[in-house]
Amino acid sequence: MNHPLVDGRTTNSALIRAYRGDRPEQLPVWFMRQAGRSLPEYRDLRVGTAMLDACLTPELASEITLQPVRRHGVDAAIFFSDIVIPVKLAGVSVEIVPGRGPVLEHPIRTAADVAALRPLEPDALAPIIEGVQRTVAELGSTPLIGFAGAPFTLASYLVEGGPSKDQLRARTLMYSDPQTWAVLLNWCADVTGAFLRAQIDAGASAAQLFDSWVGSLSEVNYLKRVAPHSKRALSALRGVDVPKVHFGVGSGEVLHAMHGIGADVMGVDWRIPLDEANRRLGGGVPLQGNIDPALLSAPWKVLEAHVRDVVDRGRDAPAHVVNLGHGVPPETDPAVLTRIVELVHSIR
Ligand code: CP3
Repeated sequence: MNHPLVDGRTTNSALIRAYRGDRPEQLPVWFMRQAGRSLPEYRDLRVGTAMLDACLTPELASEITLQPVRRHGVDAAIFFSDIVIPVKLAGVSVEIVPGRGPVLEHPIRTAADVAALRPLEPDALAPIIEGVQRTVAELGSTPLIGFAGAPFTLASYLVEGGPSKDQLRARTLMYSDPQTWAVLLNWCADVTGAFLRAQIDAGASAAQLFDSWVGSLSEVNYLKRVAPHSKRALSALRGVDVPKVHFGVGSGEVLHAMHGIGADVMGVDWRIPLDEANRRLGGGVPLQGNIDPALLSAPWKVLEAHVRDVVDRGRDAPAHVVNLGHGVPPETDPAVLTRIVELVHSIR
């Protein structure tokens, strides 16, 4: 198979080694949302093209994916796309409203709405496959991370019809109609799993499942009503040996349970230090994170001390991939990100 993990192109990269539990000489670093509005070259390319159209244009998606790798020298690319792309490709009318996020024309709230959801036809993923193939051909030994949204986070957008503060409507449905909830989450698991699998088959060397809004759940309900569906999404990767990263915001309460869905690496947000995350996970799990995005706009001295502290606290874990605790804020000065990469690479 012509795949970077099989032909060896990315196998010995710092990222893949760390994801597999090793400590390469240089700590790997990349940033969630490294492609996007913090980069002037991204804003230039996006003029006149809607967000989801850019994601579905292979040349554009590939070029945008490569921009932060060229500029910052990060240790990984993450495919430029969005968690709602598989939902859109399955026929749901969704757009991304700038400054807000995904918005649906018709929210999915009843058993009838859920029953009307159609499966994702494999052919629909062609632009994703082409975008990944183009990207991997340019990347050489730098690994590409494929990603997808986890069923709960996707279902939150579908039920709410857009971004929400604490996923109130989604959680109401979860308790009041568990049967409909289960069917909806299985549908989400299947479309998101197919999207993730397509990226891996097309040449991505790692997979990250984002359950961004999982922090609104208790551990008991997460385990009962969400975890089995996240597991189902990851089962789309059955038979392929790629490192699987799982990340959520505000996930301290559910970190251990999230790891249990079959993740190899846990992404940690900024609310708990990595030594504490390591303790909660029992000490054997490679960690990714967790620079507080708020500090990207702080004076360099303050930010540098914080980055060094993050690296120090990550030393308890078997391996560490430096990242932010959530995505790059759009107003970030990109020079600061480049400087963090240089700093992290200089730390021994
Ligand atoms: O560089 C990367 O990290 C890869 C690209 C990426 C995007 N979305 C591009 C994007 C990734 C990994 C995502 C995932 C995503 N999308 C998540 C999970 C990660 C997270 O941030 O928690 C979520 C919850 C979404 C849903 C979504 N899409 C939101 C909340 C927004 C922001 C809306 C806004 O304008 O602030 C989007 C839009 C989006 N996705 C943008 C980008 C670059 C901004 C669109 C633009 O440039 O106009």
